[in-house]
Amino acid sequence: KRPAGAPDPSLARKVTKVGVVGAGLMASQMALLFARRLEVPVVLTDLDQARLDKGVGYVHGEVDKLLAKGRVSADQANRLKALVSGSLTKDAFADADFVIEAVFEDLAVKKQVFAEVEAVVPAECVLATNTSSLSLTAMGADLKHPERLVGFHFFNPVAVMPLLEIIRGAATDDATLATAFAVGKTLKKSSVLVKDAPAFVVNRLLTCFMGEVVAAVDEGTPLETAEHALDGLGLPMTPFALLQLVGPAVGLHVAETLHEAFPDRFGVSENMAKLVESGKPGVYLPDFTLDPEAVALFAGG
Ligand code: 3HC
Repeated sequence: KRPAGAPDPSLARKVTKVGVVGAGLMASQMALLFARRLEVPVVLTDLDQARLDKGVGYVHGEVDKLLAKGRVSADQANRLKALVSGSLTKDAFADADFVIEAVFEDLAVKKQVFAEVEAVVPAECVLATNTSSLSLTAMGADLKHPERLVGFHFFNPVAVMPLLEIIRGAATDDATLATAFAVGKTLKKSSVLVKDAPAFVVNRLLTCFMGEVVAAVDEGTPLETAEHALDGLGLPMTPFALLQLVGPAVGLHVAETLHEAFPDRFGVSENMAKLVESGKPGVYLPDFTLDPEAVALFAGG
């Protein structure tokens, strides 16, 4: 069944090569998923060789785990590893049909990335963003072809979480949207079309819920009590374990975006802002080593 609001699937263009901007954890998880499900070459780009090596190394490590679990054969594992490569320049995207970015959540940074990508990719290449909360329409404002920009928002861990939020910006055309849905289907995700609104749908829900748990702790509820109070809802992990998984910098950024858009409904915890700014374990994450690299790894949406 066609998802609500999805365009005619026959408009979808073929994807034979994928580019991923960023080689952090989110980007590397995506690279593996694209290679595994689309079975096409995937090129990661980042600012330095060390980050690229780490990203490609992560993919190889995950492939080894799949092999050990018997999910892929030795041949498939070798093929998968060969499909994923790293490049320091975006020239490697010259023959890509689908480029997705998972760089730091900052509108100016993402706009700069797409300006660089647009200069090298073919005319019909889809430009996708894994942003958690930023406006698609604003992101596409300076593109030559904003009609090929689409939101493609994964959830952590990318390999496991079934949902994909697909976002249509003011200019996104039907062929781009149809390609995004077709790719989502091949990735075996359940894709939904969401409005281009601050933090879309899932992160609005998550921020409401996390905002209240954080407020309870800020108001004096012991951390442990707040963690366990949610057991009754049967959630797969405690709220602060989730904060650690998503990354406090990303969580804070989403909360700030929502506070700006809806100041009466969303607040920003000062304690959380201090924790992210200091880069040190704080009240919510007493055992967490919040090193800058870990923050950077989780940045990107
Ligand atoms: N990468 C790949 N696979 C992973 C993984 C990872 N990081 N983490 C877990 N898995 C796999 C395991 O390998 C295992 O697979 P298998 O059954 O095939 O062997 C399966 O997931 C289950 O893992 P575990 O048995 O180790 O652990 P759990 O059953 O506790 O599940 C979890 C772990 C899937 C992370 C679960 O706790 C969960 O669903 N947590 C909620 C996550 C969530 O809410 N994510 C949304 C965050 S919001 C977001 O990302 C948006 C952003 O914009 C902020």
